[in-house]
Amino acid sequence: MTTIPALPDFYNDLDLSFTKAWDLIEPGASKRSSPAHTPVVGSVDAAGLSQLRVMVLREADRNTRRLRFHTDSRSAKIEDFAEDDRVSILMYDATEKLQLRLFGTVSVQTEGAAVDAAWASSTTFARRCYLAEKAPGIGSDLPTSGLPAWIEGRQPLEEQLGEARANFAILWCDITEMEWLYLANAGHRRARWTWDGSLQSWSGRWLVP
Ligand SMILES: Cc1cc2nc3c(=O)[nH]c(=O)nc-3n(C[C@H](O)[C@H](O)[C@H](O)COP(=O)(O)O)c2cc1C
Repeated sequence: MTTIPALPDFYNDLDLSFTKAWDLIEPGASKRSSPAHTPVVGSVDAAGLSQLRVMVLREADRNTRRLRFHTDSRSAKIEDFAEDDRVSILMYDATEKLQLRLFGTVSVQTEGAAVDAAWASSTTFARRCYLAEKAPGIGSDLPTSGLPAWIEGRQPLEEQLGEARANFAILWCDITEMEWLYLANAGHRRARWTWDGSLQSWSGRWLVP
């Protein structure tokens, strides 16, 4: 006879499921091995098509419902979000058997203390990308990193990154919906939580998986 593994305490508990979701998301910002470290972030382009890309999660906070990502201010997604600020974010933790879909809106920040701090806390190697001479996604006749020749294959010094700062942006994602799917042999569980701005609280309900 096959034995079904013990079920986790959140299995039939909406509040514990919600807590478990954020317990997976939040450490993703610092834990490189976490699947939440590199979620898929979706925007809607001018043609109404969903545009998906992997991004590194830099910060997540359940109290503010905010996630932080870094990107090049010249990238196509910046234009997408200026036209339509809705964002969807997808994570799948195969060990935990948990899929999370987050929904919300994006604001882009290129100036201010938070941007200065995020810029300063990134490695010089990570910041080198922002030295690219042309916008990400621009066509090239030759294979290219986009970087100027003088820094190709080198780690920049702090003082060489000055002009790159202008291309650096934070994407703040304010989460207002979260959907959860937990896979279990005993029967899957699906739930959705919605942020109620007037009540300043989340309300959740189970869904048929
Ligand atoms: C593992 C991984 C991590 C990435 N992290 C980021 C990131 O933090 N920020 C970013 O803008 N692009 C990141 N990218 C590149 C994006 O997936 C995408 O190619 C790029 O942002 C251009 O997207 P866009 O043309 O839709 O703007 C990452 C790609 C991979 C594979």
